[in-house]
Amino acid sequence: MSPEYFCDRENEAELLLDNIQNNADTTLISPRKFGKTGLILHVFDRIVRENLPFKTVYVDIFSTLCLENFVTDLSEAIVEKFPEKTSIGRKFLRYIRNFRPVISYDRLTGSPQFSFEFQNVAEKESTLKGLFEFLNAQEQPVVLAIDEFQQITEYPEKNVEALLRSLLQQMHNIRLVFCGSKRKIMTEMFSTVGRPFFSSTKTLSLLEIDNDIYKAFIKERFGSGGVKVDDDTIQYVLDWTLRHTFYTQSVCNALYTTRSKTVTIELVNRVCAAILKQESVNYLQIRDLVTKGQWNLLIALAKEGCVQQITAASFLKKHKLGAATTVSHALKSLMEKELVLADYSLDGTCYRVYDVFLMRWLAAEYA
Ligand SMILES: Nc1ncnc2c1ncn2[C@@H]1O[C@H](COP(=O)(O)OP(=O)(O)OP(=O)(O)O)[C@@H](O)[C@H]1O
Ligand SMILES: [Mg+2]
Repeated sequence: MSPEYFCDRENEAELLLDNIQNNADTTLISPRKFGKTGLILHVFDRIVRENLPFKTVYVDIFSTLCLENFVTDLSEAIVEKFPEKTSIGRKFLRYIRNFRPVISYDRLTGSPQFSFEFQNVAEKESTLKGLFEFLNAQEQPVVLAIDEFQQITEYPEKNVEALLRSLLQQMHNIRLVFCGSKRKIMTEMFSTVGRPFFSSTKTLSLLEIDNDIYKAFIKERFGSGGVKVDDDTIQYVLDWTLRHTFYTQSVCNALYTTRSKTVTIELVNRVCAAILKQESVNYLQIRDLVTKGQWNLLIALAKEGCVQQITAASFLKKHKLGAATTVSHALKSLMEKELVLADYSLDGTCYRVYDVFLMRWLAAEYA
């Protein structure tokens, strides 16, 4: 994303850069679609633009199912960063051949793709070690960002965490950024005594972008496209999207594509209704995937916005949700499905529908 489309995150970017420059590793956590990946790529961009003495590698392991996938994705991320035509890229391709991958070339992009046929665990682990050693041996320290890091807890291999930790601990020339959206799993991994990564990083939590900064940014963006919008209307958008980055971006984008010269609250309402209508098929599918009780709890949460005392008699009674234990079970299941988000703050934990559009749709549909 070019910098003019990137709003704020100045403190977070500074903190991340500080960690990188002070030899500290970082754990970056936020709910889905808050802007973690955007922040990492923004900081990587700054490293290039400001000519800071680091190389950067970004790997997203969301779709990996096992350590072998991790090795493949990391290899491809390294090639993507250092293409064959660069000297590091050539060195890497020569180096990786030691681990006997089958190399094919993507038909569209022409970039190399690897598949490894490991005969045993030792081979797999030594390839992984080899990849880290390659990065560690670069002249400039490498910042390695591993996105959706919680995924490693799903791998079938034993002791993946311990293996990664012990390998990475030896790589003094690699700065790590572990990124994840499942707060509970990430926190357990990095903050539980006895877990391999315990206390090995500094945690950076991404929250909503500051209201006034976001407002000014949106005004400026519309303004530079010749579109008028007043402060109340922008505030209306930010309240409707709960200032969540992805939903705010989607609504603003939809407003912009109407090509209206002035954005009014009526237009916002129309555009938001159109978005919800478009999404409704997906929401009806969700309804079929959850139990009646879970669906009713989602509706209740959507109507309330955010609920702290999920088993309080008043909440249960108001929404006819039944017994507290049943609702606790439903909540647990909805959280596992990422349909409900636990918002942790100093005032306590608050539960809300994870997807803001779904929340607005439920509240409107079951009004
Ligand atoms: N600082 C920002 N300013 C403007 N838009 C942003 C900013 N950060 C992120 N976005 C937009 O918000 C959306 C979500 O961002 P991003 O993909 O970085 O989130 P994420 O936390 O990595 O999501 P996921 O959990 O799905 O990996 C994207 O459409 C992105 O363009
Ligand atoms: Mg991401």
